[in-house]
Amino acid sequence: MSGRMVIKGGRVIDPANGTDAVLDVLVAEGVVHEIAPDLSSENAEVVDAAGCIVAPGFVDLHTHLREPGFEHKGTIATETAAALRGGFTTVCAMPNTEPPPDSGPVVAALLEQIERDAHVRVYPIGCVSAGRRGKELAAIQELTDAGCVALSDDGNPVGDGQLMRHGLELASAAGLPISEHSDDPALNGGGSINEGRISERLGLHGQPAAAEVSAVARNVALAEATGAHLHIAHISTERAVAIIADAKQRGVPVTCEVTPSHLFLTEDAVFGPGPEPAYDTNARINPPLRTEDDRRALVAGLESGVIDAIATDHAPHALEDKLCEFEHAAPGISCLETALPTVMELVHRGELSMARAVEALTSAPARCFGLDVKTPGTGSISMGASRDVVVFDPAATVTIEPAAFVSKGKNTPLAGMELRGRPVAVVLDGRLMKEATVTG
Ligand code: DOR
Repeated sequence: MSGRMVIKGGRVIDPANGTDAVLDVLVAEGVVHEIAPDLSSENAEVVDAAGCIVAPGFVDLHTHLREPGFEHKGTIATETAAALRGGFTTVCAMPNTEPPPDSGPVVAALLEQIERDAHVRVYPIGCVSAGRRGKELAAIQELTDAGCVALSDDGNPVGDGQLMRHGLELASAAGLPISEHSDDPALNGGGSINEGRISERLGLHGQPAAAEVSAVARNVALAEATGAHLHIAHISTERAVAIIADAKQRGVPVTCEVTPSHLFLTEDAVFGPGPEPAYDTNARINPPLRTEDDRRALVAGLESGVIDAIATDHAPHALEDKLCEFEHAAPGISCLETALPTVMELVHRGELSMARAVEALTSAPARCFGLDVKTPGTGSISMGASRDVVVFDPAATVTIEPAAFVSKGKNTPLAGMELRGRPVAVVLDGRLMKEATVTG
């Protein structure tokens, strides 16, 4: 092959550059070289994109790769292979590993392993606090110098408001956002499900919406006081969306993300597919799946731009982590390989526009963490800069089969569902990684 590739006849949606039209994309010398109708495919590999969407490679701000420390749940190799399969070419790795990346040398070792094993671009997220223990701050300048793109204690909130305030000040001086798992641990009391109708029925201890809402309010107040960039991770409640909307209107530097799981599912998923009363531990996630009103508010918030980005919170777990009583099950959903079809279902239902769905998976997350500055062209299809493109068929039917996931985590409450939307080709670093529709 000549190293030239033409992606032919797809609907190119590139929100960063305001493109939405049927066009050809020529990739040559490792970058997007030309975007125009009817490009010649002479001496070029051809990817037939007829009927497909051609978008920038997806960007995930919230991926749990599990390595180092939890290789029985996932490794850098397996989970980045899952990312690629899902159409994601850039992922940001959450720091709840062992050891957690709370100093420069731990990040340096992690980056070496990423360099060796990763199948997509991976950016590390460093800890806010040493050991993610919430007692004293991590070595924030070291983490920045080592290449972290954000800070988070994800899995844990930064419970101490004063520590969060100082963390925001130092992160801001270093130029990094804090991606905060906004939760009030005292209020949520270790509940395993949304507090409400279903928790009462199943006799499970619930997490009230107020645990998230009050933490989001505190964190927004601290972002306002410090002027630091706060990113709210996996927002799940209607009230929290309203707080973010108000904060943005007042110019507070806040961005936020929502997971495909919270956009697509409600607390009803906890019942599982079998006869009631029963529960599916694969529907346990933190924050918990909420009510239909919350879900609708999240979709509306995403469409309007109050919520900036879709982030998977891909959380692979081993079988034994979920084969237990609900309250003992590890929270989290393996999501990288189902994110696209769940989001496309929302588009097919008319709840979310295609343009916004693509933006929320590409340019919007890239901007949240400045990834388009770190690697120009990330999240867009920019001539002379972009190296990553995904071609997906929004109408292709897929049956969710966890056993066929390349992720080690087979934990999904979507098993057996028929959804629409499948990546058919992924270009990473200018190279075709999947050949499903290669015709020439
Ligand atoms: O459900 C979750 N799982 N929420 C988190 O915040 C952490 C994650 C994990 O690491 O498993």
